[in-house]
Amino acid sequence: MTGSTDQVNALLPEKITKICCIGAGYVGGPTCTVLAQQCPDLVVTIVDVNPQRIAAWNSENLSELPVFEPGLSSIVGECRGRNLFFTTEIDRAIDEAQIVFVSVNTPTKTSGIGSGFAADLRYVEASTRRIASIASTPKIIVEKSTVPCRTAATMRAILEANSKPGISFQILSNPEFLSEGTAVQDLLNPDRVLIGSLATEQGNRAAELLSEVYERWVPKDRVLRTGLWSSELTKLKAANALLAQRISSINAISAICEATGANVDEVAHACGVDRRIGPHFLRASVGFGGSCFQKDILNLVYLSGSLNLPEVAEYWRQVIVMNEFSKARFAKKVVQTLFNTVTAKRLALLGFAFKKDTGDTRESPAITLCRHFRQEGAHIAIYDPKVPHSQILMDLTEPGVADDRKNIEESITICSNIQEACRDAEAVVIATDWDEFCAIDWHDIYQIMRKPAVVFDGRRVVDPRQLREIGFRVHAVGIGPELQDNVWV
Ligand code: NAD
Ligand code: UDX
Repeated sequence: MTGSTDQVNALLPEKITKICCIGAGYVGGPTCTVLAQQCPDLVVTIVDVNPQRIAAWNSENLSELPVFEPGLSSIVGECRGRNLFFTTEIDRAIDEAQIVFVSVNTPTKTSGIGSGFAADLRYVEASTRRIASIASTPKIIVEKSTVPCRTAATMRAILEANSKPGISFQILSNPEFLSEGTAVQDLLNPDRVLIGSLATEQGNRAAELLSEVYERWVPKDRVLRTGLWSSELTKLKAANALLAQRISSINAISAICEATGANVDEVAHACGVDRRIGPHFLRASVGFGGSCFQKDILNLVYLSGSLNLPEVAEYWRQVIVMNEFSKARFAKKVVQTLFNTVTAKRLALLGFAFKKDTGDTRESPAITLCRHFRQEGAHIAIYDPKVPHSQILMDLTEPGVADDRKNIEESITICSNIQEACRDAEAVVIATDWDEFCAIDWHDIYQIMRKPAVVFDGRRVVDPRQLREIGFRVHAVGIGPELQDNVWV
């Protein structure tokens, strides 16, 4: 955008009284609910094209909200109907607002150019077109979705080409860094709020207006201001790729630990106390899941390739390769340990969500494990404290995971508690780090399992020594043979 365009579009909202958020998902819902709580004088309206999702956000029973996050339902209860609204009346909410957050999904493309790598921006584009056609007053449009670098330029072009005469827009990048399961705490007390804007008078003023909204509860020094492209790149590439890279690195080390007798917890701790490295995101696991890491790294690989940087693309691709290896290695360990066959054996799978404290299953390692076990002919008894049974069935009948629904229904049982899943099982496989799994009475479980009873801990939630004393055989990721059951090595 040039200075002269700025002069033509000189209008900006003077005061912020109404905010609209397009997309009532895992980001839009919690983000704008917390915003409504912290800014009771602002009216916050969250809109979505999915009427079922909106109806669920409006459920009288707060345990039926479409997103489970600790602490979220009570804030929804406090604000909903006061200054927080969920509706499918998208056009009205957009037009009344001075700030519009675009918080729609940006999945990986599944066909066409960049298929399997590039971000599918169709929902961002549809939202932008809708804003352009509806807006009758100047607005600040905020990219909240994780988008490829320079998406703001595309949005700008769509807005300029389709808006009513004399209506001005300023586009800001304000990526969301919340983690699922801790979203409310992350939003109330963020490490930073990042606002990217064009370095023009209007761009700066728009960024100031958004910053003033956040500064009602976030200390000013944690509100970082950058250029638009740096902000977009920070979120998609740098932050998520760096975090995922740490997990793949520790998981690569965990394979070496298992082969040498080292203990990955000790190694991670000893590395993490170095202040240059830090202790976070060094927890060895069966592999990372979630809607962001894989998608965003694939996108980084695509961007690097498009920029003719094949070595950079290959470097980041290895983070995904290592994650796939971690999941496959763990599944193989289960089969090998159970005397090289799990055909017709009952495996209890504890945890289906991609991490604890969320009902989200997107890219959950549990799905990959189920695929491996089913290929080997196992019967899988699944228990998760939060994921609805219908969601588990849906995930396991996705193309590429299972061939047909009847077949899958015969090879899995979805259970309502840990005991039900473990009864008559040959092995317990822990795929999610739910607190409930740290407090299992393993003496009880041992009694109801077939023998030899084996526990495979993909999340480091059990104490192998304690379980071994009870009589279990134990395999825990990243714990070497000296600490494992000697019978296997
Ligand atoms: P989601 O799929 O849970 O929610 C997106 C919502 O947008 C859906 O309910 C969908 O119906 C709605 N939508 C799509 N197109 C629409 C349109 N044209 N008009 C109105 N509504 C529309 O996705 P999410 O997990 O909330 O992620 C949203 C964005 O935030 C993504 O870009 C994601 O990468 C990013 N992000 C996600 C997380 C996370 O932890 N989930 C964290 C940070 C950033
Ligand atoms: C991530 C980013 O952390 C967040 O900043 C961004 O906004 C969205 O993507 P999320 O995917 O919700 O958040 O959860 P996160 O805590 O990052 O965990 C992702 C996956 O990595 C989970 O499967 C988790 O179990 C796994 N993980 C995490 C590990 O295996 N080891 C670790 O040390 C940390």
